[in-house]
Amino acid sequence: MVVPDSKDKMYYPSDDLQKDAHVPGFNSYLALYRKSLETPEAFWKDVADEFFWKTPPVGPMLQYNFDVTKGNIYVKCMEGAKTNICYNVLDRHVRESNLGQKVAYYWEGNSPEQHMTITYSQLLSQVCRCANVLKRLGVKKGDRVSIYLPMIPELVFTMLACARIGAVHSIVFAGFSSESLSERIMDAQSSILVTADGVYRGEKLINLKQIADEALEKCRKKASSSITKCLVVKHPALRTKSGAACNKLQTPWDSECDVWWDEAMRDSPDECEPEWLDAEDPLFILYTSGSTGKPKGVLHTVAGYLLYTSLTFKYVFDHHHDDVYWCTADIGWITGHSYITYGPLANGATGVLFEGIPVHPHVGRFWEIIEKYKVTKFYTAPTAIRLLMKYGQEPLQKYDLSSLRILGTVGEPINPEAWQWYHKVVGQGRCPIVDTFWQTETGGHVLTPLPAATPLKPGSATFPFFGVEPTILNEHGEELEGEAEGYLVFRKPWPGIMRTLYRNHEHFENTYFKKFPGFYVTGDGCRRDKDGYYWITGRIDDMLNVSGHLMSTAEVEAALTEHLAVAEAAVVSRPHKVKGECLYCFVTLKDSREFNHTTVEELKRLVREKIGPVATPDFIQNAPALPKTRSGKIMRRILRKIARNDKDLGDLSTLADPKVVEVLFSHRCEAAA
Ligand code: WT7
Repeated sequence: MVVPDSKDKMYYPSDDLQKDAHVPGFNSYLALYRKSLETPEAFWKDVADEFFWKTPPVGPMLQYNFDVTKGNIYVKCMEGAKTNICYNVLDRHVRESNLGQKVAYYWEGNSPEQHMTITYSQLLSQVCRCANVLKRLGVKKGDRVSIYLPMIPELVFTMLACARIGAVHSIVFAGFSSESLSERIMDAQSSILVTADGVYRGEKLINLKQIADEALEKCRKKASSSITKCLVVKHPALRTKSGAACNKLQTPWDSECDVWWDEAMRDSPDECEPEWLDAEDPLFILYTSGSTGKPKGVLHTVAGYLLYTSLTFKYVFDHHHDDVYWCTADIGWITGHSYITYGPLANGATGVLFEGIPVHPHVGRFWEIIEKYKVTKFYTAPTAIRLLMKYGQEPLQKYDLSSLRILGTVGEPINPEAWQWYHKVVGQGRCPIVDTFWQTETGGHVLTPLPAATPLKPGSATFPFFGVEPTILNEHGEELEGEAEGYLVFRKPWPGIMRTLYRNHEHFENTYFKKFPGFYVTGDGCRRDKDGYYWITGRIDDMLNVSGHLMSTAEVEAALTEHLAVAEAAVVSRPHKVKGECLYCFVTLKDSREFNHTTVEELKRLVREKIGPVATPDFIQNAPALPKTRSGKIMRRILRKIARNDKDLGDLSTLADPKVVEVLFSHRCEAAA
């Protein structure tokens, strides 16, 4: 790696920021990075020493095999040591550091009238009570608990309660459909579902319990349902001021299965001895889209995940005791798991827990919250930045954003225009932007700047985090040196990488380790410039990234072809000003079916119901036929060009029927559906 010397416009960390930084200056980054690769055992041992171990580590910090040709793939961190992650992120601060009165979260609801403050001791007490409730409902170590909750404090209570008793949480983003929820419950074979009666998203009231019930009904139809109890939180927005229920929703109720959270918690004791787990016991499953269309249950384990999320949080956001940190993600995604719950709490941080959306009740909502809590570190997604950019500078000028010190982005490549706006308008030219590249599978940041160390180039995720060794391969699996573009892979594990796909280790090995033996394959394309900076160029498999949400073309195609009139469907991405990418669908109808406005509306609704609103297609075009190779494979490359109205189609010689292309161009959608 070289010290940057290029002529690209670079942004250097200010002296002020370097003054009390954990990693000040590029040379300190380089020194620590070298240490992490040359003496990984000592490096990770130092990190582990910060935490409480019921049985201290005896064996090696990291053991692994990353080469399928040499046997099973495995990664183990501190195997044999015993600990509890909930103890480390809560009790340790309350007992050992006297942080009980420190604010863990400022909760801000969907509507500004709704807010509350939760200290570390209050959090600990709620988590213990919830842990006792789960135990009473029969949950034991190793059992799976599905959680389908909005961004309310009970979501954090439940996930940490699971961690405390050694149950494995499987959180499903509350914007997912009943179909997606049922699929995830069945795969995890969860014994308990935790949900809420309802939730406001902007102006819209959603009957969450009804969706949860539909999911449970689907589980019962397809398999003998594993769920024995459904614990239901009454959403704070659905109570009167005095806390009584207000009946804005009809909450369907099955007295055999359903239990109100309030009633169960009322007499639950607020002490609960943590279950001492092996470092390699499972902590959670989180489903992420797979290119085959079936979601993959990414499994993370206790100790490695603790070490890695804690360290990345501390360094990437240069965390200090008096910071107020805000990550706008939903805990239903990995960003929330690692950088709203575990990473920040492991550092004893004060965070904002935000339930709402950026434009409700007004487009200055984010800026209002930053001013209200004097947020110092702010972490959001490029899609949110692009959305807010549309409203110009005026909504920001009403608020005082001078508390901000560091800005972060995650989820997709950030375009230079959005980067500049974020830097100039939000950060007032003062705050570095940490563009953090990572995945559900990596557990934490893997390519990222460190704010007081790394000179920034807008759009580049810059350099690897400690312990991470990226490399770029060409199609033949040859490593490329210097300036190059190809497949982004990692040569060896870091503590926070996933261990397997739940109940499908073979699929895990095939998906990530088979293509290039000896490497973890991310599925992303990447360029290294002459200064050694890494630039993510986007997915190179059949995955799409819509507003930072990863989805597979196969799952959308599967939803479309469930429509009775549809013979075949192919989905590609098309660039979108706000979402980054959006879905462009080609649909071939069965003979004698007519393609019209109703078809388009029905198909959109179908995708929304099957997957969720994030997957709603922007374009649905009639495709009398699809471009295929002689062996019958759909040529998506050509479809992508048609979606973009790009006539430069390249080599068409493998196409079975070249006439198809012309017909498809004539049916192109100009405007979004
Ligand atoms: C995919 C992982 C990691 C939390 C959110 C998404 C894309 C993520 C960046 C970034 C360019 C990025 C990649 C990756 N991605 N961060 N900073 N620059 N691309 O988690 O759903 O597992 O998606 O998101 O394509 O593979 P995920």
